[in-house]
Amino acid sequence: MALSLNDIRTLFEQHGSLAYSGEPVTQLEHALQSAALAEDEGASDELVAAAFLHDLGHLLNRFGDTPSERGIDDLHQYFALPFLRPVLPEAVLEPIRLHVDAKRCLCAIDDTYFGLLSADSVRSLELQGGIFSRQEAETFLSKPYAEDALRVRRWDDLAKEANRATPDLDHYLSVVERVMETHATA
Ligand SMILES: [Fe+2]
Ligand SMILES: [Fe+2]
Repeated sequence: MALSLNDIRTLFEQHGSLAYSGEPVTQLEHALQSAALAEDEGASDELVAAAFLHDLGHLLNRFGDTPSERGIDDLHQYFALPFLRPVLPEAVLEPIRLHVDAKRCLCAIDDTYFGLLSADSVRSLELQGGIFSRQEAETFLSKPYAEDALRVRRWDDLAKEANRATPDLDHYLSVVERVMETHATA
């Protein structure tokens, strides 16, 4: 089964007001802020779409609380992929798939990064497998789209600010639509 653009809109419209667990933003605000940070840096449409959709798994699989507080790794980075794979390219899917491992990597290679993480991100880090070893970080960095995943991760971490103004849902759905159209004709 594939998610259409309209399905994605419906997910955000019906469930986007859910709190982003442990943070002062909703799921929709988190997605919009992530995408806006990507766009502000001049990222490609594919990477803006990845930033926008990186937590779509949370909307598909709604625990309704803060999974990390119950000691659960919700594996949300994987949930949306089977539904997006028919309609979006690897350049969108891989940064989404890798955005949790990107946190584990950044903790290993950037001394200042851990201090930037929110309390919930630190709590979930252990559940997600903890900080990478040097070797694990190198293996991660050798993967296709690893650098894009690190960029998405840094926007993700910053996209937790209450009441930040961003472009709206329609704006980022139109970016996703462009990427879908390009992918369909490729
Ligand atoms: Fe996430
Ligand atoms: Fe996120």
